[in-house]
Amino acid sequence: MARKLAAGNWKMNGTLSALPEIEALADAHPDPAVDLLICPPVTLLAGAAGRLKGSAVALGGQDCHAEAAGAHTGDISASMLAEAGAAAVIVGHSERRENHNESSELVCAKAQAAHEAGLSAVICLGETEAERDGGRTLAVIGRQLDLSVPAAGTGANTVIAYEPVWAIGTGRTPTAAQIGEVHAFLRGRLTARFGPATGQAIRLLYGGSVKASNAAEIFAVAEVDGALVGGASLTAAAFSPIVTALEAAAG
Ligand code: PGA
Repeated sequence: MARKLAAGNWKMNGTLSALPEIEALADAHPDPAVDLLICPPVTLLAGAAGRLKGSAVALGGQDCHAEAAGAHTGDISASMLAEAGAAAVIVGHSERRENHNESSELVCAKAQAAHEAGLSAVICLGETEAERDGGRTLAVIGRQLDLSVPAAGTGANTVIAYEPVWAIGTGRTPTAAQIGEVHAFLRGRLTARFGPATGQAIRLLYGGSVKASNAAEIFAVAEVDGALVGGASLTAAAFSPIVTALEAAAG
């Protein structure tokens, strides 16, 4: 079975003064039983990579362009992230889908660009509150999954993060049963498309208001292979207990 994954998404937070938080996390988990990934702002990647040499904490970007290079002012390519020290990149976060009008087709192209640059893609999807209230959760998520994951997806290059939009940064989380329903659905859909080996190997993270106090309950849900954590990943003090809870769940 694939190792579980605790991933932190710093979003547009953190300046150079925050680098010691990543180091502190690495120091607190020198030999973790789970994979660790921090996705800081791109300005911190190279500096963090220098400090993390030999540690168990991997680094990731938060977005990349679908093309390898070109006239795209303000954008960054997957290979640039790789050169700066990233091993992964988040694509299709709901804040990108909403604020930058990103379609699942574009997210798929970005994931493909990540793969071509040797990065693993953490592909995010999730329903809005209106979609859940309207009983459309699985239909929305199924469509996002089908369109966002490249055909060449494998357990090594692809991670899926289920992040209900209404749970992100709100302190609200779905019930364990609701998370379990979506993760079982995602697992079934991946297995049907990619076959049992790859379908099982692609890790399924839950994201949206994960914190130390709810982590153990969420990690006990079937088919939850880890978490994508926003606010509670910004300090080692907040993130470390989540890592420990995931290690406990990994047994
Ligand atoms: P949150 O964000 O943990 O602050 O809710 C999660 C995310 O958006 O990835």
